[in-house]
Amino acid sequence: LYNLFRKFMFQLEPEHAHHITLSLLSRFPAMGRWLASEEDIPLSLSQTIWGLSFPHPFGLAAGLDKNAEAIDGLLNCGFSYIEVGTVTPKPQPGNPKPRMFRLIEDEALINRMGFNNKGAVEMTAAISNRKRSGIIGVNIGKNKATPNESALDDYLSCLKSLFIHADYIVLNVSSPNTPGLRDLQSETSIVPLVQAVLAQRNILSLEFPGHCPPILVKIAPDLTDEAILSIGSSLAKSGIDGFIASNTTITRAGLHNSSKRESGGLSGRPLQKRSTTVIRLLFEATEGRIPIIGSGGVFTAEDAYEKILAGASLVQIYTGFIYKGPRLIGELVNGVASFLRKDGFQTIGQAIGKATKIAAKH
Ligand SMILES: Cc1cc2nc3c(=O)[nH]c(=O)nc-3n(C[C@H](O)[C@H](O)[C@H](O)COP(=O)(O)O)c2cc1C
Repeated sequence: LYNLFRKFMFQLEPEHAHHITLSLLSRFPAMGRWLASEEDIPLSLSQTIWGLSFPHPFGLAAGLDKNAEAIDGLLNCGFSYIEVGTVTPKPQPGNPKPRMFRLIEDEALINRMGFNNKGAVEMTAAISNRKRSGIIGVNIGKNKATPNESALDDYLSCLKSLFIHADYIVLNVSSPNTPGLRDLQSETSIVPLVQAVLAQRNILSLEFPGHCPPILVKIAPDLTDEAILSIGSSLAKSGIDGFIASNTTITRAGLHNSSKRESGGLSGRPLQKRSTTVIRLLFEATEGRIPIIGSGGVFTAEDAYEKILAGASLVQIYTGFIYKGPRLIGELVNGVASFLRKDGFQTIGQAIGKATKIAAKH
């Protein structure tokens, strides 16, 4: 069914297709179930991380449901968690269109959306309106007009607005489409930023006893290996709860489609290897003590399993979901469960990081 749907949608301009799909899923959440394949989820895939129970490790990456408008429909597609956003304190229009491009022969997308979103206040209302329960991560950023010196105010403002609605919170400091944002990854910026957000989270959790969402940082794949190792170990010392590796890349190696010259972040197949390397570096830098969500170019169970062996506890998809639809989730569930069996692992936890130097040491 998705193949037919895709055939029609791929005739349309990418962002237009995106809006139609999201508004369909928002108005008719059951549609997610029609497009998905019914799967029994093997127990070997279930995990409790940050006190949250994930039936399987596959979730939706940030940027598809920027305003939390289609959570129910997306959960019905089979995701075990949905990350909404990136949301900024104030609404903003993002960059001029066109700003999203399909590179079909490369199984990739390029986007320079620029955090188009309706702002934190609208998002709180949208999340409150959902009918289904399910794990919701909220990815937060800063407004384009906010200078980096005041970026912390924007992250704190989003944190305060969305605190009670979020099962986990992601600090996005790695989108290539907000000028200067990625400079926040320098150690002199990221360490105090994370410390201040963690402190505010702890204060808020006293106000709302029993709720203390973990704080994650989403990293760019274009940092040097040394920078990734050093961010990993510094943030581990600061008490960060998790990482997402990685965001989109500004590199363009090996592409065929003529849209390769468009500026923005590249996602999908060409990002697959580098994002897995970033996971491995972070896992090694943190000695496997901090959960990592792997994101970048997952199209098959092999791709996902590679990320788990490199140190990812959870895996997110975006571009693979556009190209393959909800059936990809069923494929990942069955495929990874069978890799675990084949390799003699009873649970996914036993496989995480098994292809890293840390595993070799133990
Ligand atoms: C159109 C588009 C918009 C995105 N917007 C965001 C965003 O707002 N915030 C964010 O953290 N990541 C964003 N991403 C990055 C994805 O969350 C994901 O990390 C990245 O695309 C790599 O995964 P993939 O290869 O499975 O797509 C976006 C990606 C795409 C394709």
